Amino acid sequence: MSSSLQHWRMFCRPISTGIGEVAVRPIMPDDADRARLFIEGLSGTSRYFRFLQALRSLPPAMLERFVRADQVTQMVLVGVVSVNGHENIVGEVRYAMNPDGESADFAIAVADAWHRRGVGTSLFLMLERIAVAAGITRFTGESFAVNSTFCNFAQAVGFRTWPDQSDRTCVRVEKRLGDGEVWLEPA
Ligand SMILES: CC(C)(COP(=O)(O)OP(=O)(O)OC[C@H]1O[C@@H](n2cnc3c(N)ncnc32)[C@H](O)[C@@H]1OP(=O)(O)O)[C@@H](O)C(=O)NCCC(=O)NCCS
Repeated sequence: MSSSLQHWRMFCRPISTGIGEVAVRPIMPDDADRARLFIEGLSGTSRYFRFLQALRSLPPAMLERFVRADQVTQMVLVGVVSVNGHENIVGEVRYAMNPDGESADFAIAVADAWHRRGVGTSLFLMLERIAVAAGITRFTGESFAVNSTFCNFAQAVGFRTWPDQSDRTCVRVEKRLGDGEVWLEPA
C-alpha cells in the first residue's frame, strides 16, 4: 500500500463556499464527540440515507468504528469549520477497501445546512485522489433508490448507477478510478 496516504496534505485543500471555508483533514479518534454531534445534527432523512437505517445516533461501538480509520484499508476525510475556536464537522467521506484488495466501498454525508455548495463534490474528489495514490482501482457503493439526490450526485462525480437486482429498493454505484487527471501539486 502506498505511503502517500500518510501525506494527506498533498491531497486536501480548504473548500470555499458562499457561507464560509471548510477545512479538510483525516478523521481522528478524538473526533468522537464532533462526529456524534455531526451525525445527530443531520436531518432524519440524511441520516437514514447515509446509514441505510433509521438511527437517531450511533451506538458507542459504531461511533468508535466511525472515527477509527487505519488510513490504509480505510480512509476518512472530514470537512470542518471553526466556530469560537471549536471545530464542527460539516461533511464526511470515506472508503473501506473491499476483500478483493482493489476496490473500495465509499460513503458520504454533508450537513444539511451545507448542501448544494460543492462540499460533497470537493470532499469526494480529494478522497478519490488519495484512493488512486493508494492503488485503488474502483469505488463501489449503494444507496436507496429513492435517494435521487445521491444518485444525481454520484452521476455528477462520474459514477454509473443501476438498480440492485436482488433488492429493487436499492441502487448500486460504481466508478473506475485513475482514468482522469486527479493529482494536485504538493502544498
Ligand atoms: C449526497 C450529498 C453528499 C451531496 O452533497 P452536496 O455537498 O450537497 O453536493 P454538491 O453540492 O457537491 O453537489 C454536486 C452535484 O450533486 C447533485 N445534487 C446535489 N444535491 C442535489 C439535489 N438536492 N437535487 C438534485 N441534484 C443534487 C447535483 O448534480 C450537484 O451539482 P450542481 O449543484 O452543480 O447541480 C448530500 O446530499 C448528503 O449528505 N445526503 C445525505 C447522505 C446521503 O444520502 N449519503 C449517500 C449514501 S452513503
